[in-house]
Amino acid sequence: MKLRHFLTLMDLNHAELTGLLQRAIELKTMVKRDEHYEPLHGKVLAMIFDKSSTRTRVSFQTGMAQLGGTSLFLAPRDTHLGRGEPIEDTARVLSRMVNAVVIRTHAHATLEAFAAHASVPVINALTDMYHPCQLLADLQTYTERCGDIRGRTVAWIGDGNNVCHSWINAAHLMDFELRIATPRGYEPNSALLERSRKHLVLTHDPAEAVRDADVVVTDTWASMGQENEKSRREHDFAGFLVNQDLMARAKADALFMHCLPAYRGCEVTPEVIDGPQSVVWDEAENRLHSQKALLELLLNVRR
Ligand code: CP
Ligand code: NVA
Repeated sequence: MKLRHFLTLMDLNHAELTGLLQRAIELKTMVKRDEHYEPLHGKVLAMIFDKSSTRTRVSFQTGMAQLGGTSLFLAPRDTHLGRGEPIEDTARVLSRMVNAVVIRTHAHATLEAFAAHASVPVINALTDMYHPCQLLADLQTYTERCGDIRGRTVAWIGDGNNVCHSWINAAHLMDFELRIATPRGYEPNSALLERSRKHLVLTHDPAEAVRDADVVVTDTWASMGQENEKSRREHDFAGFLVNQDLMARAKADALFMHCLPAYRGCEVTPEVIDGPQSVVWDEAENRLHSQKALLELLLNVRR
């Protein structure tokens, strides 16, 4: 079988992505029924995390355990990566021992360099540019609640960041409209905007973006690595808070999404994130099920 990586959502085509979402829903049902399914018995997943994580780390480790495999958590300060061993050498070495590698890092180019030298599947667990695993869970959550997302409208409010870029890829692949409202100077990557322009509306007005939307999504204003920009960003993002007034402009049954971790009182009010339209806990749980479906696909072990 041809080696496959998952570096961005575009590594899947529409049929594969919809199939993966259905499979994630099935795998979730199997867990709820306490049905054991262990196609990864004897397989090992290495996980390199250059940034903090709660959901991604726990969901991959739990997912591997449920599928009968094991995982190794590799913090950079405990490996030679933290002392300057080249990423390309690390990729070749790990490929001789483990069956797949998950990486969370800063530059997307670092992930690409690793993948170019790996002979086992490599999965993007977040870079400064993309967070494709998050979108698997978010699309699963939408599908479970409302069915096919095709033709729907999603409003992204806030920073044109890594999660926003993956929403752009999702709009492109799944054929829905993504309305992006950012402050000036915080727009998403221009090449992505150009490539997917038929699926996108770009504005600087959150009210315009959310009008009659089916989903309202936001994320932190200061991503990992931008901690020292926090106070400037809090100033620049004033007016981009998702509150009940903003939600009231979307459809009455619109879903509120956030990848978490959330900062209540910055990008979202407690009333919205802890309110009835919020599906953030489903999104978090679905990281587990959708990544199990991803591992099954990349390792070609579906039974
Ligand atoms: N949403 C998400 O990726 O969370 P973690 O940073 O906790 O992994
Ligand atoms: N945009 C955020 C997402 C965290 C899961 C970050 O990169 O820190």
